[in-house]
Amino acid sequence: MPTRIHTLHVNFTGISSHRSYPIIIGRDLLADAGFYEDMIGDRPVVLVSNDQVGPLYASQVHQGLGEARHVTDVILPDGEAFKNIDTLDGIFTAALKDRHERRSVFMALGGGVIGDMTGFAAACFMRGVDFLQLPTTLLAQVDSSVGGKTGVNHPVGKNMIGAFHQPLAVAIDINTLETLPEREFAAGMAEIIKYGCIYDAVFFDWLINVRSQLLARDPSVLAEAIKRSCAIKAEVVAQDEREGGLRAILNFGHTFGHAIEQVEGYGAWLHGEAVAVGMLIAAKISANRGCLDASTVTELEQFLLYFGLPVAAPKDMDAAVFLRAMRTDKKVMSGQIRYIVLSALGKASIVDDISANEMTAVIG
Ligand SMILES: NC(=O)c1ccc[n+]([C@@H]2O[C@H](COP(=O)([O-])OP(=O)(O)OC[C@H]3O[C@@H](n4cnc5c(N)ncnc54)[C@H](O)[C@@H]3O)[C@@H](O)[C@H]2O)c1
Repeated sequence: MPTRIHTLHVNFTGISSHRSYPIIIGRDLLADAGFYEDMIGDRPVVLVSNDQVGPLYASQVHQGLGEARHVTDVILPDGEAFKNIDTLDGIFTAALKDRHERRSVFMALGGGVIGDMTGFAAACFMRGVDFLQLPTTLLAQVDSSVGGKTGVNHPVGKNMIGAFHQPLAVAIDINTLETLPEREFAAGMAEIIKYGCIYDAVFFDWLINVRSQLLARDPSVLAEAIKRSCAIKAEVVAQDEREGGLRAILNFGHTFGHAIEQVEGYGAWLHGEAVAVGMLIAAKISANRGCLDASTVTELEQFLLYFGLPVAAPKDMDAAVFLRAMRTDKKVMSGQIRYIVLSALGKASIVDDISANEMTAVIG
């Protein structure tokens, strides 16, 4: 029996208001015929998933979509290594061969890799079709499925080819978290903790208070944490869809995190793990600047450790290695490196003046 626990909205205003959309959080949503009926009526569907998630959850989606509907299943190989133009082409081929047109709706069933690729395929197919996000990792539920950034990797750089394309809706079925491996769950928790750090000190304290329920994946506590995280992301994205300013605060911990991913090789560290270390580096620099209490930094460190997340940079990475990696990051090649620091717990600011000495003081 489908249960909708929370519904919130990404609200764009003015000429962009037609792109506003709901985020629905609940249980048994994948099989919720009413949801599909409301969102897409009887329109044909291209359902994209991978060889891990598809066998677990695609049958529930089929049940919700009903037998009468024209549905094409596209099952991709699992993994970041397949987030590329060739795999994308496979989605187009399957959709074209099965005679899909502009009326068809693409659906992303999986983690951030599937969501990013399906969203980009939808942005390009027939010059743009609608799509639904059905995120199944905690990271995708609180981060990548919301905000409209879609794309694939290029051999020269990660996420370098893409488009902004907002979904019609995001349906977060928290039942899917039951099968999520522990490391992937912890990586998603890092992003949830990030929202508390950058935007909401009360949320940060609440997360610490309910940490044992979170670790035990208590559905109602998880639903609440996901709701607040999505609400913060929605609020930020609605104010700055294309990252002209404010949206950059969502990159707290990411500048250092990307450096770790780049130096250690993508896949060795999960994105959320690298972000955990990056957040702690940024928090320590913020504390050394007098913006954050040392006790808050310790609290953050303990909290990350509680979920089994790493808190120390890899041994082969000192401040000089970080700086070199950050300078060659494709996103910063044209200008200054931008860092996100905390001016207080729950308040982030964007700076470009962190010195090598400040980094050495916290990284070594
Ligand atoms: N668009 C954005 O704004 C944005 C934001 C953050 C990250 N991203 C992108 O997201 C991707 C990372 O996403 P991710 O962390 O979800 O990784 P992922 O999509 O690779 O999923 C992680 C692993 O979990 C498996 N999995 C997914 N759901 C499962 C479930 N319910 N039960 C069991 N296994 C399950 C997947 O098959 C995969 O092996 C990266 O490509 C990153 O660039 C995009």
